[in-house]
Amino acid sequence: MTTTTRIFNFAPGPAVLPLPVLEEAQRDLVALPGIGMSVLEISHRGKVFEGILHECEANIRKLAGVPDTYKILFLQGGASTQFSMVPMNLLGPGKWADYIVNGAWGEKAIKEAKKVGAVNLAHTTGPDFKRVSKQDELKLTPGAAYVHMTSNETIQGVEYTGSFETGGVPLVCDTSSDMFAGPIDVSKYALVYAGAQKNMGPAGVTLVLIREDLAVKAPATLPSMLHYPTLLKEPSLYNTPPCFGIYIVGLVMKWLIGLGGLEAIRAINQRKAGKLYAEIDRTGFYRGHAEKDSRSVMNVTFRLPSPELEEKFAKDAKAAGLDGLKGHRSVGGMRASIYNAFPEEGVDALVAFMRDFEKKNG
Ligand SMILES: Cc1ncc(COP(=O)(O)O)c(C=O)c1O
Repeated sequence: MTTTTRIFNFAPGPAVLPLPVLEEAQRDLVALPGIGMSVLEISHRGKVFEGILHECEANIRKLAGVPDTYKILFLQGGASTQFSMVPMNLLGPGKWADYIVNGAWGEKAIKEAKKVGAVNLAHTTGPDFKRVSKQDELKLTPGAAYVHMTSNETIQGVEYTGSFETGGVPLVCDTSSDMFAGPIDVSKYALVYAGAQKNMGPAGVTLVLIREDLAVKAPATLPSMLHYPTLLKEPSLYNTPPCFGIYIVGLVMKWLIGLGGLEAIRAINQRKAGKLYAEIDRTGFYRGHAEKDSRSVMNVTFRLPSPELEEKFAKDAKAAGLDGLKGHRSVGGMRASIYNAFPEEGVDALVAFMRDFEKKNG
């Protein structure tokens, strides 16, 4: 296996994984060292998988400084299932939740919550979603069961770095596309969830960090598979968990620790994103979608002078080994998703391509 067969993959998710992780998984796929069986074949109740699960959890705790009062769950159903599980578990009778909507995923989250109970739109930057909400724009309602935010809107490429102040109301955050992109103060949130397939591992695993006291209030009438207290009794082992996905997440966590942890990866991410935004700002040919102070470090969205040029850009870029740059159909334009595992050489290659494309078409 050599890197020469790999192109630069700017896809928004499932997305690029660290090459050393793929190589280790490939090397050990047929038989885990000393075990004689594939990770795909071992029992989720056996000692080997237990070791993989606990090491992965311990590394997540170490990397993100997850306090002991929080439990870690690896679930199935994607972040989208959390859009429903959060209100099902946390919205008690007669209660309501406040939602901050800064993009397409926040819109989906609030839509699902409305099916479960009463919801208040605390603020939205729609329909264009060129920026995130500001703290002083929020119309939070005292006594809400929780406040929901999306830290990084993958489609629009807008990011809120940090947590909103909620006046003591539990804060729930969808961190699907920027989890582990930099340090996170977990103690600011009551619940954090993220689909793995952008910054953590393959599709099929969803990470949930939940403050223990929050989970206990969930109605016992919920289906067991959607009921946090049931799932927390034996975390990630109520039923057969996504074993292979958890194994890969574990390898990614070790890779991150090896790089120097979340401060180190943040510096790399800022450098990578900085190069792209500098190129976007260099002339008027490219136009960033997000306002400058809301720009995402993970998903860089930009437009070209015309849809025809955008089409050509995506086509020519693909031919040059830069794949996955077409923006989401709801926004148009281009989107470069440059998650943790995306190599800096790929960013440099895109910058060079952008310059060349502008020269030829500008
Ligand atoms: C911010 C955000 N939230 C939620 C989702 C939905 O995740 P899933 O496909 O795992 O349900 C995505 C997927 O792209 C996302 O980017």
